[in-house]
Amino acid sequence: MNELREKTCVVTGAASGIGHALATAFVEAGARVVLADVDESRLAESAEGLRRAGGDVLAVRTDVARAADVEQLAGRAWETFGAVHVVCNNAGVASDAPLWESSLAEWEWMIGVNLWGVVHGIRAFVPRLLEQGVEAHVVNTASIAGLISEPGLGAYKATKHAVVSLSETLRHELALRRAPIGVSVLCPGFVRTRMADASAGAAPGAPRARVDAAHRQALEHGMAPSVVAQRTLAAIREDRFWIRTHTDWEGPIRTRALDVVDARDPATRTKPQAEERRT
Ligand SMILES: NC(=O)c1ccc[n+]([C@@H]2O[C@H](COP(=O)([O-])OP(=O)(O)OC[C@H]3O[C@@H](n4cnc5c(N)ncnc54)[C@H](O)[C@@H]3O)[C@@H](O)[C@H]2O)c1
Repeated sequence: MNELREKTCVVTGAASGIGHALATAFVEAGARVVLADVDESRLAESAEGLRRAGGDVLAVRTDVARAADVEQLAGRAWETFGAVHVVCNNAGVASDAPLWESSLAEWEWMIGVNLWGVVHGIRAFVPRLLEQGVEAHVVNTASIAGLISEPGLGAYKATKHAVVSLSETLRHELALRRAPIGVSVLCPGFVRTRMADASAGAAPGAPRARVDAAHRQALEHGMAPSVVAQRTLAAIREDRFWIRTHTDWEGPIRTRALDVVDARDPATRTKPQAEERRT
């Protein structure tokens, strides 16, 4: 899709970080934007800022872990703008603990937002995009964590591997149908966002991001979200599947892929040195 001007782009997790940067880049490209996020006050701030910058935006409070919310988001988008051309299933959360120490609530939180969020996005939007019949594009936000299996962030990585896999399948299935709908999967390394401060709400016992000091530092020194957004827009325009932003993870990705090809047991690895991976 070469031209984004006058197109309608939906972004989940749009109140912060990568989602906010995507929404900003779409507005700058002349698109209309539907912003979705569970954080109502940040969502309102984000929408207000984009309107002041001249954007034609609609904000819809959405919990992507709830199918009914995402259905309603799709309905509001079509009702308001009459068409949708880009869907970014981007909302996501992370918490780090050894697999057996992640609580059930943490597992459910991450699977709910990171995996069900993308599933609900596909189920709510793709049938409508197929019916609409015009050129469109779906971007699912995974992570480098969806391409490697090093120690740490086990539950998060499980959800992101799933997002990579379902994005590949979605691309194949739409291509077999000759649908004019492109698919990309966004796999960034560390990006400077609020991810380390995420929580599932203020209720006592609600899960919140657990990240160690090195990981927090790597996020603080990560890539600017605006750079990730520009690469994403370029991939949409060029209809490229893989959106890779960080080159410094190629070694672990290659090692894991070759382990699979050669049926080699994974070598015991130390936790990746987050502070060495900042680009
Ligand atoms: N920051 C990184 O280093 C990094 C790296 C790789 C992938 N990612 C992925 O990028 C995506 C965006 O994260 P970010 O880094 O911008 O983090 P962020 O915390 O700055 O933004 C995430 C947004 O998602 C929203 N959100 C959380 N739960 C939600 C729900 N149930 N429904 C709707 N919205 C919800 C939050 O309110 C927040 O506004 C995530 O999928 C994340 O896994 C981030």
